[in-house]
This record gives sequence, C-alpha cells and structure tokens, in this order.
Amino acid sequence: MIGVLGSAGRAHARLAALGSYVPPGVLTNADLERQVDTTDEWIVSRTGIRERHIAGPDQATSDLAILAAKNILSTAGVDPNEIDVLIVPTCTPDYLFPSVSAITASAIGAHRAAAFDIQAACSGFIYGLAQAVALVESGLAQKVLVVGAEVFSRVTNPQDRGTCILFGDAAAGALIVADEDHAASSGFVGFELGADGSMGDQLLIPVGGTRHPAAAGFHPDDAYLQMNGREVFKFATRVMEDSVLRLLDRLAMTIDEVDLLIPHQANQRIIDHAIGRLGIDPARVFGNLERYGNTSAASIPLALAEARDAGVLRPGMLVMMVGFGAGLTWAACLVRYEPT
Ligand code: ACO
Repeated sequence: MIGVLGSAGRAHARLAALGSYVPPGVLTNADLERQVDTTDEWIVSRTGIRERHIAGPDQATSDLAILAAKNILSTAGVDPNEIDVLIVPTCTPDYLFPSVSAITASAIGAHRAAAFDIQAACSGFIYGLAQAVALVESGLAQKVLVVGAEVFSRVTNPQDRGTCILFGDAAAGALIVADEDHAASSGFVGFELGADGSMGDQLLIPVGGTRHPAAAGFHPDDAYLQMNGREVFKFATRVMEDSVLRLLDRLAMTIDEVDLLIPHQANQRIIDHAIGRLGIDPARVFGNLERYGNTSAASIPLALAEARDAGVLRPGMLVMMVGFGAGLTWAACLVRYEPT
C-alpha cells in the first residue's frame, strides 16, 4: 500500500460488503454431554447455545480467514489486487508470527496490501473497523478488508466444562471503501473503544507468550484458555450497556434511532440483560448464538452477514454493534449500512 495523507480529498468510509466462512463440522450439546459432566438443559438455560462449528484437523485460523475474505470480495465484486490493507482481528493466530493477515493476503492474491493482525479478542472486529475507517478517511487507503477469524476449539480445554461449551470456530468480516460522493448522513457515525488490563487475568491463556514460553515447559492445562466466568459475566453486562449509552450520548442520539443492534454473541443472558437495560425492542436485535456459540472476533460480522441474508439487515439501516472480550476490552460502533 502507498498512501498520501489527505490525497483522497473528502474521503468517506463506507461499509460496502459483508461475508463469512463457517467450517462444516458441528459440535452439539449432546456431543458435549458425552465429553464432560454437563447437560443440554444446563448449557441452553445458562448460555443459549445449542451447537457450534469446529474447524477440521487441517484447518488453522488463516484457512478460515482466506475463505471468508474470498467470500467478501466476490460479494463486493472487488479484485484482491484492489485491497490496500488487510486487517485480521484474532486472538487465536496460526503462529505468534507471521501474522494471519500476511498469510491470508498472499493466499487470496492481495499482493498490494499491507497486512496486520489486531489482538482485542471479541472486541477485535470493531477495533479493526476503527482502524479501517481511520485509514480510509485519512486518505491513506481506499479499500480495507477486515476479517475476524478464530479457531477457539484449539485453545479451549476439552475437559473444562466451564469453557468448552462456549466457543466455536468461524471467520467473517467486511470491506470498507472510500467514497467521494456521499450523503451527509451516510457511513460510519462513531466508535467507543476501551480496555481495562487490570482485569486481564480474568480471561487468559497463560502459556505460549514471553511471560511463560512454551519452550520452558508447562502444565497442559496452562496452554488452554482460563476464565473466571462470573467476573467476565459481570464485566460484560456492565460494558455492553455503558459502551452503547456513552456513544449515543456523545452523538446526542437515543436508542430509538438505532434500527438494528448486533451484540457480540457470547451468552444469551448477557444479551438479554443489555436489551433490557438499553430498552430496545428485542425485534430490533439480531443474534445467531444458538447455532455458533462464541466465535470471538468473528461473532459480530458473522451475525451481520446472517442478518443481511435473512433480510433483517437492509440497506440504509443504522446499525449499532457492541462487544467485549479478553484484555479485558470493549467496543461499540454506529454505522449506516450501505452495501455496494
Ligand atoms: N455444566 C454443568 N454445570 C456447570 C457447567 C456446565 N457446562 N459449567 C459450570 N457448571 C457449574 C459450576 O461448576 C458451578 O457449580 P458449583 O456451584 O457446584 O460450583 C455452577 O455450575 C455455577 O457456575 P457459574 O460459573 O456460577 O455459572 P454461571 O451461571 O456464571 O455460568 C458461564 C457460567 C456460562 C461461563 C457464565 O459465567 C458466562 O457466560 N460468563 C461469561 C463468559 C464469556 O462471555 N466470556 C467471553 C469470553 S470472550 C473472549 O474474548 C474470549
């Protein structure tokens, strides 16, 4: 990518296309009943999840990201060589390095693209959108692909009933493009992003980084995700509501002006709590948690793509996305959906 600041004049970022890839393998609650001491009734009543998709043994995160990226480009009718930047939000990369985004850019033929990953866990897609919008509206880039991709099944302890029931694998994302011609009311309206690292130990994978390198040896449990579910639950219910309200307040808007809310798909009780506190009509909230579980950085764009396919997300709608995740992090974004 080569860009010159301000060179695009009054550049304006637009959410032009959505796409996804979900691996075919399915893990049901009945499968989990055979794996750990749990029941379908417990999982459904405490989380709302019935099944999740699981990557095949030969599929790493980039393999999912590549297929999602191709799906987005074919939806948009855009050639991979037109992509200036490819951003992959992920916290389950193939390797510490090289990045998933660099692997993905080569594989899809985006040979002009700069590529980098973002590590903001389940908030990562919205963090990635903020980067894409900043790149486009500064004039540095004209077309940016943001592909959230995760293979959480590889970092979840299959014997830990508190976590193995929650997560699934998927990749999904969006193409952000520069528009010269635009209505004043179009495009991205605002973001609210945050992080509280003091709570980082509530949700972490202890081994594999520089604090506890894998080469130094480790207990097998420490290579898996570890979570204080109750603390993360309390944090999530607070930030989902606060983040949306802070953004609306800053924009001098109300929740009634939002056409569609797409919350991070982590737990139905967290989503229901946010719906109640925000006072939004549940008919204006889209979710697909029961079929995919928590797919982290892929969760919000996967829900967006499915809402589009279901005719729930329609051109011109004002959409609020909100998420939270490891870090701990949170993020909200308000955008008018204007597909190519
Ligand atoms: N089946 C049956 N019983 C279970 C299961 C299970 N799968 N899991 C836990 N239990 C038991 C516990 O052992 C506990 O038993 P005890 O009372 O005898 O000790 C009991 O159920 C209640 O446990 P809690 O942890 O209090 O259950 P809770 O209602 O909080 O639900 C859950 C647990 C679903 C994990 C919830 O806390 C949650 O969803 N938290 C948020 C998780 C989340 O969204 N994480 C996002 C991660 S995003 C990212 O960035 C990776």
